[in-house]
Amino acid sequence: MPKKTKPTLFDPPIERRDSDSTKWTRFSSKEHDVIGAWVADMDLPTSAKIINAIKSRLDERVFGYSEPPDQFFDVVIQRLEKKYGWRTKPEWFVPQPGVVPSLFFASNCLGDNGDAVMAARPNYRYFLETAEHTGRVFQPIDCHVNQHRWEMDFDQMRQTISPKTKTFLLCNPHNPVGRVLDRQELETIAGLCLRNGTMICSDEIHADLVLDPDKQHIPIASLHPEVEKQSITLISASKAFNLPAIGGLSLAIIPDPEIRSAFQNKAYGVATHPGALAYAATLTAFKDCDDWLLQTISYLRDNRDYLEAQIADIEGLNMTHAEATFLAWIDVSNSGLENPVSTFLEHGIALSDGTEMGNADHVRLNFACHRSTLEEIVRRLKASLA
Ligand SMILES: Cc1ncc(COP(=O)(O)O)c(C=O)c1O
Repeated sequence: MPKKTKPTLFDPPIERRDSDSTKWTRFSSKEHDVIGAWVADMDLPTSAKIINAIKSRLDERVFGYSEPPDQFFDVVIQRLEKKYGWRTKPEWFVPQPGVVPSLFFASNCLGDNGDAVMAARPNYRYFLETAEHTGRVFQPIDCHVNQHRWEMDFDQMRQTISPKTKTFLLCNPHNPVGRVLDRQELETIAGLCLRNGTMICSDEIHADLVLDPDKQHIPIASLHPEVEKQSITLISASKAFNLPAIGGLSLAIIPDPEIRSAFQNKAYGVATHPGALAYAATLTAFKDCDDWLLQTISYLRDNRDYLEAQIADIEGLNMTHAEATFLAWIDVSNSGLENPVSTFLEHGIALSDGTEMGNADHVRLNFACHRSTLEEIVRRLKASLA
């Protein structure tokens, strides 16, 4: 008799093929079933408390423009203090629809055309693209594997950064390599940026998704008041609580009034107001869903451990340890495949191409799915390489 396992919050799996899901429809067709494991959303249902909060708003039946709920900023401020010991003030918060537009506003709100924007590479694609789209020069800092761990090349950063580098775009926890940067790494980045007058824009959208119990997310702005003053921190409930379809809501936390005003000028007339459903969902996520989040992290951790063990057994693939996020960064350079992404697609798995993220030797696999789906992904990966 097979061993019976206890059902989780995420049983039974939810079929997303007919839900207009970007992840599941982009590459699939009636003739060719493809499992979506690329774009970074989860197949896991969000918390019932969040769904009820959205339903209450829907029951009002009138969907006019709306303000943040009364307790909204208090809840966020208390959460940041409780989780990270970081004390923030209500006036620092600039609500925005999504995190990505804020990367663009942060990239050219200081300095002039011809100044530079710096970011690690590989990185979430927009980190590599904002400079070009905002009239700035891109200064990439390469990451390398050192003792099985991805690290930024700080020597390269020391040699490249200059007072022309107006913005450093930091991704922490890092998509795609899954690192939670430690205090020493953050101090190094902050020190170099302070010395050069470089503002740090830190995208911390994955902060709630630290999978390793011995790792702790540190908002870079919480290091020292001088770093805080020279920073923009971007947070959102969208990743950890799986809310992209509700309509965007992120918060840019900008302590310095001059940087805040420069950022708001860039966003003026471009960024739309977040909607009431997104406020209701985010408020509940940050106030009442710690228990749901713990269960989700535990599920994702089990998935990660399963995937790591499976990949270790597949010749030609190599996965570094994902300390955070639900994204596996897999080295395919020894797979013998000429075009790994196309081959995996032919075998029914849609993965993200590392080329888009600045490293052609890799693919990115999203493991935020039901365990049975992940098992099927692994079967298909093995078939692709057989
Ligand atoms: C690091 C990072 N920032 C931002 C986003 C997208 O944020 P938003 O949908 O709020 O624009 C993602 C999505 O994958 C991400 O991984």
